[in-house]
Amino acid sequence: MKKIGILTSGGDCGGLNAAIRSIFFRAKNKYNMTVIGIRNGTSGLLERPVDCIELTQKTFSGYLLKQGGTFLGTTNKGYPFDLSTKDNKKSDQSKKIIEGYHQLGLDGLIIIGGDGSMQILQNLAKKGNLNIVAIPKTIDNDVGATNSSIGFDTAVNVATQALDNLHSTAVSHSRSMILEVMGRDAGHIALSAGIAGGADVILIPEIKYSINGIIDKLNEMKNRNVKHSLIVVAEAVKKENGEKVIHEYKDGQKRLGGIGEYVANEIMSKTDIECRVTALGHVQRGAPPTANDRILASAFGVYAVDLLYKKKFDRMVALKDRKIIDVSITEAIKTYKNVERNDPLVETALSIGIYLGDIKL
Ligand code: F6P
Repeated sequence: MKKIGILTSGGDCGGLNAAIRSIFFRAKNKYNMTVIGIRNGTSGLLERPVDCIELTQKTFSGYLLKQGGTFLGTTNKGYPFDLSTKDNKKSDQSKKIIEGYHQLGLDGLIIIGGDGSMQILQNLAKKGNLNIVAIPKTIDNDVGATNSSIGFDTAVNVATQALDNLHSTAVSHSRSMILEVMGRDAGHIALSAGIAGGADVILIPEIKYSINGIIDKLNEMKNRNVKHSLIVVAEAVKKENGEKVIHEYKDGQKRLGGIGEYVANEIMSKTDIECRVTALGHVQRGAPPTANDRILASAFGVYAVDLLYKKKFDRMVALKDRKIIDVSITEAIKTYKNVERNDPLVETALSIGIYLGDIKL
């Protein structure tokens, strides 16, 4: 193991730079390895020459540890086995990516990504003899087999801070402030931030809700002379009729978004409660990483280098009961980690009186 590569793949999040930094120092200081940072995920391996930089101590002499995003760049577009080319045709680019890896003379590659990226890299590794180890990152916290992924804590902090800021304006205007948060098909960000930020209502995709149920909660508050409220809605919550709310961009890409407006309109059309909506969006991804994310990323980075050194490939680093462990990538991606009914945070939310949908204590 003399020369290793790192790439970040999928949506960015807080803590990626901390992970890259930790990988570099562990590899250099403990094993004297050369570390190559590949730019823009697998897209960098498609360039000729491969788009990459050799990392040195100087790379990390500034504020990288504290900055959101990934200084290597990333991509969350396209499937290399069926990728759109410039002339809008689809073609299999996997061979070229594999060639890129071998041209660099890498002995191993650390990928920092979510379940989608891990699946792609695992397929590339099988096809082209790539020695890979994965580090889970995603604000959604939906990767299985790990208690937490890099970026989740930062996203929860941003959403909590947003609720704190919305609280005062909600009180001032006696309004219902609705905060739409990210999370893909899981409600982890909404549930955690909602509890931390004092939400009165939390809607997550895993639990069925009704508009009348929300209104009952707001009326019950009104009867206690509380005329303001905070509602957190996860982006994947569906309309009452089961329809997903999707935003389609000009280039045809579709993303979840807009459920906050739906909930506000429904409440306003059935009551005299005034609602306002804040869709937090990518602020949750680009914020400076929290201390917890920097620490988790640093610990994951060290462990990932050790796995490569021991030639334990096709593994993902994971957090379990405050210990860093490793699991097979297949095991990590085989189950999508949703909020389960027996999640202690569900009981916590219900116990402090939050309306969480059609379930009871
Ligand atoms: O998976 C991370 C995530 O931020 C999701 O929460 C969100 O649905 C999606 O990515 C947004 O993707 P994009 O950055 O392409 O808009």
